[in-house]
Amino acid sequence: MRIFLDTANIDEIRQGVEWGIVDGVTTNPTLIAKEGADFEKRVKDICQLVQGPVSAEVISLKWDVMVEEARKLAAIDDYVVVKIPMTPDGIKAVRILSAEGIKTNVTLIFSANQALLAAKAGATFVSPFIGRIDDNGNDGVKLLDEIIQIYSNYGFDTEVIAASIRHPMHVVEAAMIGVDIATIPFDVLKKMFIHPLTDAGIKRFLQDWEAYQKGKEQ
Ligand code: G3P
Repeated sequence: MRIFLDTANIDEIRQGVEWGIVDGVTTNPTLIAKEGADFEKRVKDICQLVQGPVSAEVISLKWDVMVEEARKLAAIDDYVVVKIPMTPDGIKAVRILSAEGIKTNVTLIFSANQALLAAKAGATFVSPFIGRIDDNGNDGVKLLDEIIQIYSNYGFDTEVIAASIRHPMHVVEAAMIGVDIATIPFDVLKKMFIHPLTDAGIKRFLQDWEAYQKGKEQ
């Protein structure tokens, strides 16, 4: 499973890249606004850092303006993937962009039918928002499972990004059902390293080693 970082924060991305476990990045208008950075420069900087797919979202809701915006975003860097919202206009834009070879990530996916339409339009990626589905009393991981089954039934190339991940168990559940990619907030990624028995084990090994060294000195 590939791991993307769901952030526009350069320090977080740099740390993830240094760990050697980050394959790409997803951003959205909320995450970019949080950083207060120049949008295009930030996207370029992220691409140079991560050297993998970097999703940057269009703002327009009209298909023709979306296509223009997408072309400009795609011109920033070869790694740019244009995020397009799941609407009829969005799907029309994805069809045009995929014919031009521009990579797309259809975002705000909340149903299997939406994922089916995005794949039909030639989307490179779809992003089901599993956390927001859970927040609304439904099962986000079940939706991932349905989408993976449908794509497998028909041999769609569109890859599934588990998005809106809220905690480490979301990552485990997504991985168990074979999702292609999970886009993970940095605080959740950090939690994935942690287990109290690992810390206790290290402490014990070091104590035992110290005692052994002291014993040799006597
Ligand atoms: O990748 C989509 C993600 O940024 C949305 O996450 O936590 O705002 O639902 P959240």
